[in-house]
Amino acid sequence: MDFFEVINNRYSYRGTFTDEKLSDEEISLILKSAIAAPSGMNIKTTSYIAITDEDIINKLGKIIKGNGTKTAPFVLVLLTEDKSGISSMNFEIENYSAACQNILLSVTALGCATVWTDGILRAKEINDAVRFLLNIPQNKTIRAVLPIGKPTKDGEPKEKKPIEELVVFNTY
Ligand SMILES: Cc1cc2nc3c(=O)[nH]c(=O)nc-3n(C[C@H](O)[C@H](O)[C@H](O)COP(=O)(O)O)c2cc1C
Repeated sequence: MDFFEVINNRYSYRGTFTDEKLSDEEISLILKSAIAAPSGMNIKTTSYIAITDEDIINKLGKIIKGNGTKTAPFVLVLLTEDKSGISSMNFEIENYSAACQNILLSVTALGCATVWTDGILRAKEINDAVRFLLNIPQNKTIRAVLPIGKPTKDGEPKEKKPIEELVVFNTY
């Protein structure tokens, strides 16, 4: 897939995964693509928990219901930290979003699938349960869980809005 095919083939996958594991090289490519993302003032506010342990993934999947997390061979949890004390500006959300998109594209390029799972983490009891399971320090905000693997069935990229609906050229 060339770069633009990767962008256009990406879609959110909420189904189950095959039991095919990701290789160490694939995991490394995904992690490096996350770390390659830009960040405001080059201050790194995003950190990651890379989970390959089946037992932990199974427990996490029981907390994160509604997608295939339980069956994923690899799960990434994205965390952010407020470092606005250093710069007086907070770029936490922007930084993690840029990293997250790099991950989604790398996952697609590798023939795998995932979904940016965020909404369910906003429920306090779910967030607390994930924090407890993964022993996440209180100074880190849990932003997203990405279950990653080969999908058991093919998904389709969603139809996108036409450019004219969202873009104006030169002035509004
Ligand atoms: C910030 C953000 C949060 C999201 N949270 C969730 C989520 O909690 N659960 C989910 O199933 N999808 C989530 N998504 C995926 C969107 O629902 C999805 O991107 C959108 O429906 C468009 O579909 P596509 O990704 O297949 O193009 C999230 C996406 C973004 C960018």
